[in-house]
Amino acid sequence: MPNMAGRQVSPHRQPGDFARVFRPRSLEEFVGQDSVRQRLKVYIQAARARGEPLDHVLLLSPPGLGKTTLASVIAHEMASQLRVSSGPAIERPGDLAAILTHLQPGDVLFLDEIHRLRPHVEEVLYPAMEEYKLDIVVGEGPHARSIRLDLAPFTLVGATTREGLLTTPLRDRFEVVFRLEFYRPEELAEILGRAAVHLQTAIDRQAAWVLACKARGTPRIALRLLRRARDLAQIQGADRITVPVAEATLTMLGIDDRGLDALDRKILEILIDRFEGGPAGLESLAAALGEDPDTIADLYEPYLIAEGMIRRTPQGRVATDKAYAHLGRVPTRLL
Ligand SMILES: Nc1ncnc2c1ncn2[C@@H]1O[C@H](COP(=O)(O)OP(=O)(O)OP(=O)(O)O)[C@@H](O)[C@H]1O
Ligand SMILES: [Mg+2]
Repeated sequence: MPNMAGRQVSPHRQPGDFARVFRPRSLEEFVGQDSVRQRLKVYIQAARARGEPLDHVLLLSPPGLGKTTLASVIAHEMASQLRVSSGPAIERPGDLAAILTHLQPGDVLFLDEIHRLRPHVEEVLYPAMEEYKLDIVVGEGPHARSIRLDLAPFTLVGATTREGLLTTPLRDRFEVVFRLEFYRPEELAEILGRAAVHLQTAIDRQAAWVLACKARGTPRIALRLLRRARDLAQIQGADRITVPVAEATLTMLGIDDRGLDALDRKILEILIDRFEGGPAGLESLAAALGEDPDTIADLYEPYLIAEGMIRRTPQGRVATDKAYAHLGRVPTRLL
């Protein structure tokens, strides 16, 4: 049964990702996402010149593309304090009220996984975002009354990987919405070059390119490949990560020439062998793999679709000719 633990190409956070992480601090150090960076620079300069907090920002992207990083970059560029919490961590309206009332003027409040805010908690956020007000109910039953407190002007930075799960009222209260894109290999290679300096490791330009091309457009994956390549270089007694070291790292991790790993290939195999290439419903595919349907939809599928290996149809998932070719099989219709 496929096992997610330790999967090197998973874009999700894993233990160890936090060790010696390389996090850009300023907008200047944040690589790629040019359009987001340019717009953000203007908004930040304007807000600072007015002496006001930045408008509320919503960051949308698949995992590992830099939402958390960008939130801290925003706080740094605004010369503000960053406060961090997340949707699932805030259980009751009172918890959010406590966070909000402790904000200092200009603070940046980062709420990760904001789609997971409970409805009652989310409602507290609406007046806070709109007017920097907090409505609290005091007393109970017939004596209950609502009082309105002023909050310090602040910036909410919300992040989610699941745009579709955001409620419309919440989404509408963000003045700025940024969608982060998958990175180009040259951008990932640049990130790797910078990260190597932080890790006090030398990496050849071509070697960075080799890793960058297999990182699924995702900095988190690229950085993880870099750490594995550094291990290998060290064990081999090499003083730097060379192209052969980078290639050996990918082989060691079972990552093939298309950037697919064993689990990706397993999905294609099951789709082709058990479902005759599909269409297969997400549920049945997940059951055959012994995986959770959400995990497949969030984690494996986007890259397989982006690579043109799988098509999503109303009837279910279908393996493309490219998938057959990749596994060295002949499409059923040609047999
Ligand atoms: N543009 C970038 N330039 C340099 N490094 C980056 C960039 N974007 C992300 N990184 C690095 O990639 C790693 C993952 O980024 P981050 O944790 O910000 O992603 P995320 O979108 O918040 O992921 P998740 O959805 O899992 O919370 C971090 O180590 C971060 O420093
Ligand atoms: Mg994050």
